[in-house]
Amino acid sequence: MSKKQEYTGDYDDKTLYIPGPTEVREDVIDEMAQPMFGHRMDRMTDLYTTIVEDTKEFLGTDNEVVILTASGTEFWEASTLNLVDENILVPTCGSFSERHANVAERLGKDVDRLEYDWGQAIKPEDIRAELEDSDKHYDVVATVMNESSTGVRNPIEVIGDVVADYPDTYFVVDAVSALGGDYVDIDEHDIDVIFASTQKAFAMPPGLAVCVVSDDAYDRELEKGSASWYGGFQRTLDYYDRKGQTHSTPAIPVMLAYRKQMKYMLEEGHQGRDQRHREMTEYVHDWAREHFDLFAEEGYRSQTVSCIENTQDIDVAATIEQVSEEYDFVFSNGYGSQLGEKTFRIGHMGEHDLESIQELTDAIEDVAGL
Ligand SMILES: Cc1ncc(COP(=O)(O)O)c(C=O)c1O
Repeated sequence: MSKKQEYTGDYDDKTLYIPGPTEVREDVIDEMAQPMFGHRMDRMTDLYTTIVEDTKEFLGTDNEVVILTASGTEFWEASTLNLVDENILVPTCGSFSERHANVAERLGKDVDRLEYDWGQAIKPEDIRAELEDSDKHYDVVATVMNESSTGVRNPIEVIGDVVADYPDTYFVVDAVSALGGDYVDIDEHDIDVIFASTQKAFAMPPGLAVCVVSDDAYDRELEKGSASWYGGFQRTLDYYDRKGQTHSTPAIPVMLAYRKQMKYMLEEGHQGRDQRHREMTEYVHDWAREHFDLFAEEGYRSQTVSCIENTQDIDVAATIEQVSEEYDFVFSNGYGSQLGEKTFRIGHMGEHDLESIQELTDAIEDVAGL
């Protein structure tokens, strides 16, 4: 049982290099400290329509955008409830894709997993084979874009092209730790539903989940006749259409921060952010190869989270602790008991740049004596 540990407010500021939350610009944080206003006031319509339309522009999509007070987890549930009658195919390659499959099971769906060893990427040809050979009809193929537990970036574009050959099967992508830091052409690859949490590569405070929904997915929900209440596509999108607001009271301060950060993101552009994240990734990969190795399968490595194989057998927990104490930088151990000490993870996402990432690797070198 957890006991109360009084929050004292007396904590050192740490620079975050974990796979989210990540660093947020100071002026974006400041936006949240405003007098409150009502969620049915015109000002709210201005705010919500601005962030929705700016998000569409940033992502370059003609699909619809929903921004809800929730974390990304909400859209595992909502996309399953909105689109799946019976069968869902979930390729699993790490902790988050496994959790996605668990969520669908809990919701009573018939879940088929296509299991890959942790560190391996999902292969589009396996998905085609499953869709072709299975005697079941899959309502949804649900794929994680960026498996944050292993640092794998799955080829969702090619998988989208495969699923598009099966018109009654909808393609759902968990892009929680990728969107905003890794370019994806949503419309070109027929992605019906793709979602992210704001605390990852969008570099915003936690509290909102963003979901992009195709017209086909919206129609599918109507045809299916049952849906999530909170994350139903019809409820959220029709409310937007009629009122330019959300159906229930949103986290207004986080939306104020979102508005400000999205202006920065529009300035840099989807491809500009992709390029900056690629440069950080190349640097971290070179550094990892020099001192350790990379855990994820070659050719499928994440552009926002690097999972580094601890080939030198350093004490990961102690190194993290000491880097935090001496430098006020925080990075992550490996995921769960399976990878805890065998790997460690660096989140190079959001507003980080080459210089800030280099500061972290210098600190790790110093502390671990590399
Ligand atoms: C790939 C992936 N999916 C889903 C989640 C869950 O996101 P949230 O904690 O925002 O609900 C995470 C969280 O780290 C993640 O990395």
